Amino acid sequence: MRGSTIAGIGHYVPERVMKNAELEQYVDTTDEWIVTRTGIRERRIAAPEQASSDLGLEAAKEAMAHAGVTPDDIDLIIVGTATPDMLFPATACILQDRLGARKAGAFDLSAACSSWVYGIAVAHGYVSSGLANTVLVVGAETLSKITNWKDRGTCVLFGDSAGAAVIRPCDPGQGFLSFYLGADGAGGPLIILPAGGSRLPASYETIERGQHYLQMNGREVYKFAVRMIPRAIQEAVDRAGLGIADVDLFIPHQANIRIIDAAAERLGQPREKFYVNVDRYGNTSSASVPVALYEAVKAGRLHRGDVTVLLAFGGGLTWASCALRWTK
Ligand code: ACO
Repeated sequence: MRGSTIAGIGHYVPERVMKNAELEQYVDTTDEWIVTRTGIRERRIAAPEQASSDLGLEAAKEAMAHAGVTPDDIDLIIVGTATPDMLFPATACILQDRLGARKAGAFDLSAACSSWVYGIAVAHGYVSSGLANTVLVVGAETLSKITNWKDRGTCVLFGDSAGAAVIRPCDPGQGFLSFYLGADGAGGPLIILPAGGSRLPASYETIERGQHYLQMNGREVYKFAVRMIPRAIQEAVDRAGLGIADVDLFIPHQANIRIIDAAAERLGQPREKFYVNVDRYGNTSSASVPVALYEAVKAGRLHRGDVTVLLAFGGGLTWASCALRWTK
């Protein structure tokens, strides 16, 4: 089997910045509560006419330019999203058309906040086995569209953005070194959008009950994340045949600064080795890890040959980690 790696990366964040002070107008909360409990100071909010594919398109174009590939080069497009433009057609098919990637297969991947890391694992499988040469993996979210702006337990946490990567072949031992994917379906009710599917089709009643909005048991998800993250990071490191000290930079899902701090402490790693941008974007679900990776690269925090561990967790419950030797 050949190796696979990230040949190019891109991102997009909407222009509109929503600071915590604005949320004080909608729900009974304060800037101080949000900052101390979550680390979030502001988030980006998509314009009313912007859907997830609009954000994903910009991220995809940047990733393709960075990788030096054309639409004709792309064999497969995977979009990780919890907020597709619609139930079907897949947001990946909408992107395939708008990019003009006529030779590409396209599908969406649904693993909530873990979708993008799940997606790069799938892309690695395709590229390393020779089934594909060039795979575009996009994480695109407009969580503001499924947020109940009257629920202070959730509306302060989320934001909108998109990240994308182009996965291409590389020498074995370079690029992706390991993957670890996990799920616990019994925890599904902890983060849920109940209505609009086949179990509870949209109706006046579901709208009245607010069942087309994301609902979350924050405290239980917090406990799950703190327990699981160190285990998932260690698993990716072990499977790569490395030690935790060999990792130059950790790129965790940006959900809550206290969750990241707890993971650093449990792993006995300095907090500076964890990239953080939750203060500026909040939790952007599947876009969170690729946007953080993009920023870390642009900020010069990751150099050719460095090892990074990507870590995502979210609804499902799902989690995913991977060790990556940066080759760009
Ligand atoms: N402002 C003020 N008070 C609030 C707010 C708010 N925005 N939200 C909750 N509170 C109150 C609660 O009502 C509660 O009051 P009470 O004690 O009178 O009942 C108190 O603050 C403490 O509530 P907790 O839920 O215990 O607060 P906690 O410290 O756990 O923080 C939070 C809540 C931020 C949601 C945290 O639990 C968390 O980050 N959980 C993880 C969420 C997450 O990571 N989700 C990722 C997956 S999302 C996906 O997949 C799409």
